[in-house]
Amino acid sequence: MQILVVGSGAREHALVRALVADPEVTAVHAAPGNPGIGDVAHLHEVDAMNRAAVAALAVRLGVDLVVVGPEAPLVAGVGDAVREAGVPCFGPSGAAAALEGSKAFAKEVMAAAGVPTAASRTCDDIDQVAAALAEFGAPHVVKDDGLAAGKGVVVTDDAQAALAHARACLDRPGRRVVVEEYLDGPEVSLFVLCDGTNVVPLAPAQDFKRIGDGDTGPNTGGMGAYSPLPWAPATLVDEVVTRVAQPTIDEMARRGTPFVGVLYCGLALTSRGLRVVEFNARFGDPETQVVLARLADPLGTLLLAAATGHLADHGPLTWHDDAAVTVVIASANYPATPRTGDVITGVALAGTVDGVHVLHAGTTARDGALVSSGGRVLSVVGVGDDLPSARTVAYTGVDKIRLADSQHRTDIATAAAEGRITTPGL
Ligand code: AMP
Ligand code: GLY
Repeated sequence: MQILVVGSGAREHALVRALVADPEVTAVHAAPGNPGIGDVAHLHEVDAMNRAAVAALAVRLGVDLVVVGPEAPLVAGVGDAVREAGVPCFGPSGAAAALEGSKAFAKEVMAAAGVPTAASRTCDDIDQVAAALAEFGAPHVVKDDGLAAGKGVVVTDDAQAALAHARACLDRPGRRVVVEEYLDGPEVSLFVLCDGTNVVPLAPAQDFKRIGDGDTGPNTGGMGAYSPLPWAPATLVDEVVTRVAQPTIDEMARRGTPFVGVLYCGLALTSRGLRVVEFNARFGDPETQVVLARLADPLGTLLLAAATGHLADHGPLTWHDDAAVTVVIASANYPATPRTGDVITGVALAGTVDGVHVLHAGTTARDGALVSSGGRVLSVVGVGDDLPSARTVAYTGVDKIRLADSQHRTDIATAAAEGRITTPGL
């Protein structure tokens, strides 16, 4: 089987790495990819957002499957174009990707499907926002309705800051904002593979969204992750499948927009029980890096089964007993205006540490050197027998890498490794 992966981040590098390891997979292509992906797959200079170009590339290469990594191409309909060209695609149609592309739409589907989530108000103007903020009280949660690369949400005790964010969102043409009640409790990311009808859950992971240690500073795309979650209730995955994923997939099918791909369930385990914080229509980054490090089943076979409506033939997945931790190395000034063009060294050295592999995100080759080209630059993955050892392995890898003024969190998986996470409501 030959596969084309669309995207260029560490998530796509993790996908490519796992696909290459599948004995059924004979070749992996990536568009546009990055230098790390280029070490193990064939790169093609095609813009991931250009639906016609991606579909034409898939046809020209004669691939058996296209896997779309990021949300923006999915929302733009790359999955539709690939399927229209006759190639199976792991990734939802533009219509189904609206589960991520519009928070108001996701809320409407959840309401129709009876999925537990935060109470919310969708607002078209600032007076509605002010009323909703007053109704729910602090902490305030204000979300841009549309795609915002992980930066559209503000959670604050400051009503003026909440209003200012809402104004900035509403100032853009056609934009609405969603104001929500605040959800307490630890967050979990659970990826659920869907073939339009059937669902197969992966292993849960936890992501660290804020830039700074102790969950301080602005939200980012994600600064690190770990899996498994020793503190999570044993029934968590079953509960998410039964109460969240299957009803959502059933509702999408009922609407005539079946969901094929991965439904990313962003959850809060609150004092009042399980709640959906958000849906995404794709694998999470950096959670994918740790989840795939633990998956024992061949990934290509699994994603093809999802893309072609055959997930029911697939039994429950098998997992390595290991734990995995990933630490993201980000450039100076991320997430505001990341500085790029700095030389990166030590990647190969880090890769020699037992249990470490380094995945590329914002990197590019220049004059024979590797230089930074984006906000999140590398994702260093450490695998060990348990979380404390996976953590140590990952940070040993991070310490080998040099990038001027780079940023990384030093507390990824610390609380879990020390047994300090509790779930009051479950
Ligand atoms: P989202 O893009 O909707 O995932 O939001 C990004 C992050 O903001 C989440 O991962 C949470 O950490 C936080 N967040 C979103 N919604 C809420 C909420 N209702 N209550 C508390 N925190 C939230
Ligand atoms: N890790 C958060 C995301 O992928 O949206």
